[in-house]
Amino acid sequence: MKATGVQPKLVNEIEREASVIMECADNLAFMRPLASESVKLVVTSPPYNIGKSYERRVSLDKYIKAQAQVISECVRLLHPNGSLCWQVGNHVDDGEVFPLDIVLYHLFKDHGLKLRNRIVWHFEHGLHCSRRLSGRHETILWFTKSNDYTFNLDPIRVPSKYPGKKYYKGPKAGQLSGNPLGKNPGDVWTIPNVKNNHVEKTVHPCQFPVELVERLVLSMTDAGDTVLDPYMGVGSSVVAAIMHDRTGMGCDVSREYVDIAWERVFEFQKGTLKTRPMGKPVYDPSLPFGGH
Ligand SMILES: C[S@@+](CC[C@H](N)C(=O)[O-])C[C@H]1O[C@@H](n2cnc3c(N)ncnc32)[C@H](O)[C@@H]1O
Repeated sequence: MKATGVQPKLVNEIEREASVIMECADNLAFMRPLASESVKLVVTSPPYNIGKSYERRVSLDKYIKAQAQVISECVRLLHPNGSLCWQVGNHVDDGEVFPLDIVLYHLFKDHGLKLRNRIVWHFEHGLHCSRRLSGRHETILWFTKSNDYTFNLDPIRVPSKYPGKKYYKGPKAGQLSGNPLGKNPGDVWTIPNVKNNHVEKTVHPCQFPVELVERLVLSMTDAGDTVLDPYMGVGSSVVAAIMHDRTGMGCDVSREYVDIAWERVFEFQKGTLKTRPMGKPVYDPSLPFGGH
């Protein structure tokens, strides 16, 4: 695929590997028949219970109980060396903000999961608030099931600020002081959210930027591993998985979103899917709209 530099596979090659499983289904029904410990990465963004078109608003207590059931099933499916990334923003009730990572944290701890990072996803666009500061970040809680977890740093390194910088004294004088492959991207990621000018925009109001999931897939899984998104929407996580030779699995209750997810997978297979390349600078003043 030209836009990302990732080569698409031939359609029959993908089918032979059965590397995509997507269904229009409730996530508990979808997950129950799956084998325990078979998924290397669970990555998802659940509804925030704020009355979006794809959710029914309920009390926070009821929402937490429903999340507990889904999380429990995800933990059962998680491989012992695997990771679970729960991407959330705020639940808002009558102007009061409830950060969902704080609200849900204990549900993961109750299963003995260990938090490795609370990744802050920062973006520039969103609602303009008049009675509080406009929200410009959400978070990803990255948990692992054990201390022995897959983490590949090299594929997600980013360019160093001073790539040619050398030690100027001491035993390493003259040698490069940083890693020539780049630096650790840190736990604050500035990645454009998918609004109207974004190349990946579909009808879904809250889709993941594929590059956000690519970072998680590349660092927390190896080729051939399975990635699961139990609230997959239009399949951004599945696309990120198959772009890097992983198996992508997911479900959504909306037939419309699942159909779009399949269209995106087929477009990837044909080499026509446009995604914003991982690592592309956020603002390039030389491009129309700064390159967004
Ligand atoms: C925040 S969106 C996720 C969007 C997704 N990350 C993407 O890139 O398109 C949450 C999704 O969960 C779906 N959903 C809500 N309840 C569900 C359930 N019980 N089982 C499966 N999907 C559900 C909604 O239809 C919605 O598309």
